[in-house]
Formats: sequence, structure tokens, C-alpha cells
Amino acid sequence: MAEESQKWVLMVTAQTPTNIAVIKYWGKRDENLILAINDSISVTLDPAHLCTTTTVAVSPAFNEDRMWLNGKEISLSGGRYQNCLREIRARANDVEDEKRGIKIAKKDWENLHVHIASYNNFPTAAGLASSAAGFACLVYSLAKLMNVQEDNGRLSAIARQGSGSACRSLYGGFVKWVMGKEENGSDSVAVQLVDEKHWDELVIIIAVVSSRQKETSSTSGMLETVETSALIEHRAREVVPKRIIQMEEAIRKRDFATFTHLTCADSNQFHAVCLDTSPPIFYMNDTSHRIISCVEKWNRSEGTPQVAYTFDAGPNAVLIARNRTSAALLLQRLLFHFPPNSETDLNSYVIGDKSILKDAG
Ligand code: DP6
Repeated sequence: MAEESQKWVLMVTAQTPTNIAVIKYWGKRDENLILAINDSISVTLDPAHLCTTTTVAVSPAFNEDRMWLNGKEISLSGGRYQNCLREIRARANDVEDEKRGIKIAKKDWENLHVHIASYNNFPTAAGLASSAAGFACLVYSLAKLMNVQEDNGRLSAIARQGSGSACRSLYGGFVKWVMGKEENGSDSVAVQLVDEKHWDELVIIIAVVSSRQKETSSTSGMLETVETSALIEHRAREVVPKRIIQMEEAIRKRDFATFTHLTCADSNQFHAVCLDTSPPIFYMNDTSHRIISCVEKWNRSEGTPQVAYTFDAGPNAVLIARNRTSAALLLQRLLFHFPPNSETDLNSYVIGDKSILKDAG
């Protein structure tokens, strides 16, 4: 290590977008390794909108690993953080910053500590997949700092151990998380189906119904579903495998009608298994239901679908419009049905692709 070793700090900053599942992951077969009971497919959002920015730093002056999330220190003692840190450290390599005369040998990483500062540009834990972007960014930035020579697929298997959905944020475009068969999770990785240019006319609008923290976390919600729902096994074994095949084909062919049918049906089935959980889990609220009715009516009246909707573990609507014209019409409709400052709690729209954040609250 360099002379005057207490004086240097080496830093890396990375930015990772969140992803929204169009075929949902819900249920684990291994809680510790985070292995899913079904494959899932997601679309990665434009990093300009919903993303996490993480800076990781190492210095001999640091005497413990520490992390700050949105400026507030959080504990790293949880198994998920520890698993990610351990897996990345185990793959660390020599690092040299010639200009500053800093040399870190592979073996030094065991004794060096990191400081991590992470910032979400969107509400944390409000069903906007903040853990997905967060763990993907943590793993990616640590891997860069420690000169880890693994491809994104291998890194996705590490991010997965932070939060299942995080593995899909290591790639842009449409991404599949293959659940895998191995007990050690080595084949439970993300693969890119198509890159972000493949279907670039799609526009994603997120109607922020509520930015409050959700009552039931995804982690505990899916555990309760697996333990108590009679429908979840049917979903994981019979329904999702067929949908995965159909969805991959719809994405490859840019078949928006099939894409919309599958996306909406899968969101609705996910919320149905939540309702089938004991005690039942309600992620959507009245405003979410009204958005669904509004989109369903519009799609039916047009003959060909214009917009797909999907809701994660929260009331916020993710609306995927077939093109810019449909997106503009969708916004008009949303503003008509949910005018700013009306009695509904819909308060902002985050629009994918171009940077518009309208805060009407
Ligand atoms: C509804 O990945 O947040 O968004 O693996 O326990 O951290 P953990 O859960 P998480 O669950 C995401 C659930 C979902 C569907 C999805 O993203 O596929």
C-alpha cells in the first residue's frame, strides 16, 4: 500500500436505473440466496428518471464499513448487505492509481473498509423498485472500485443476493431473470433479451399515486404468499412459464397487443395472489383501480391497445404507451380524470424517455 497510507481515499461513482417487471417475480424458494420460484421479465427505465447514484470509497483511514442512504446512515449488518460485500470482496483484484501513487494489492481488500453513499432520485420503498436500483448500483460500483473482472451476468447473481429484482437492473432494455435450477444459485442470473434500442418507441409514464412507504414490504409479502396462498403454486408452475415464452416473442416482434395483454394480466394475477394471501395484502388503492378502468376502457374503445399498465408492490401505476402519440393522449386523459389538487391522491407523473417530472401536488 502507498506510503502515508492514512491520507488517501479512492472513490468510484455509478448510476443504475430501476426496472419494472412485466412478468412479475413473487415468491422465493431460498430466502438467503434469494432464489425465485419463477422466471420474470422486466424493462429497465431510462436512468434520467428513476435511478440510484452510489459513490463507494475506500481508505486506510476507514475503520469499519458504513453506508448512507439519502443522507441518513443505515446499518450494514443485515445479511443482504453482508452477502453482497463478501461476494465482491472475494473477487477483488489489484488496483493501482499511478497518478496518485496508490496501490492496493488483492490481499489488502480483506482489511480495508468501504464507505458507501447512495441516493435515490425517487421515493424509497414506495413500490417503485428502489431496492432494485439500489443493490444493482451497490454491486456495480463496488465491483468497479475493487477491479472485479466479472461480466454483468455474474454480477447480477451477486446483486440478486441483495434484492431479487436488482439482478435485472444490471442490463438495459428488456431483461429476463432466469430462476435457475442449482441449489447454490449459480445459474440464477439475469440475461438481456433485447437492448434499449430494440423497441424505443415505447414511452413509460409512472403515475405516482402515493410516495408513502408501503405497509408490507415485498420481502415479507411474498414470504406470506408462498406460505398461505393456494393460487401461487398454480401461478408459478402453470401460468408464468407459458407467459414467459409468449412475452419473449411479443418483445422480439414488438407485438404491442400481446405485450399489453400479458403485462396487464400478469399484474392483475400478481395482485390476485396478494389478495389470496392470509392476511390479504392490498398494494393497490382506489386511485390505482380507477387508473386500470380508465386504461381498459380506452384500449377497448380504440380496438387496438394503446397502453399497458402494471403495478408493483404499491399503488403507483406504471403505464407503458405504444408510442409518443398514445403517451400524449394518455397524459391528457389522466389529467382529465385525475386533475391536479383534486380529491384523489395522484400527485405526479414521471415520464420515461424525455425528462419531465410534473409535480402537481
Ligand atoms: C412486485 O426484489 O423487492 O416488484 O427479493 O425480497 O428484495 P426481495 O424482493 P423485491 O421484489 C420485487 C417484487 C415485484 C415484482 C418484480 O420486480 O419482479
